Amino acid sequence: MRVLIIHGPNLNLLGERPSQFYGSLTLAEINEKLHNLAREKEISLDIFQKQGEGEIVQILHDYRKLVDGVIINPAAYTHSSIAIRDAIEAIALPCVEVHLSDIYRREDFRRKSFIKDVCLKQFVGEGVNSYLNALDYIWTNLSN
Ligand code: DQA
Repeated sequence: MRVLIIHGPNLNLLGERPSQFYGSLTLAEINEKLHNLAREKEISLDIFQKQGEGEIVQILHDYRKLVDGVIINPAAYTHSSIAIRDAIEAIALPCVEVHLSDIYRREDFRRKSFIKDVCLKQFVGEGVNSYLNALDYIWTNLSN
């Protein structure tokens, strides 16, 4: 099983961003935990962090025939990007949405996710566990 993981803009600064929302782990530490879980479950991961909306769309296109599923934290683009939403819809792969923070318990503008209804499931507010639960979920879903 091969899974694509995309981290959106500003997530490279985890560890420096407000820890009350995002915790204190760096992106490298989160990726290491993902790799550890993936190894246990014999999943191969392709992980990217991109600042640009178009770059994220391009990765989704480029990997659409190479992977079995996608985990994405589009960060701020969650609340604005119809282009990323359309790309997820177009590639027709099982996709899971992830947020470290609980987007429903913050500013009003974060409550709207443009990708929610083109994803199988959304994990929010659990820090690194949002990602780990997403990987576990996709593994369970694709194994059956
Ligand atoms: C985020 C939540 C978004 O609202 C925010 O713009 C981010 C990170 C999260 O993981 O909690 O950059 O996606």
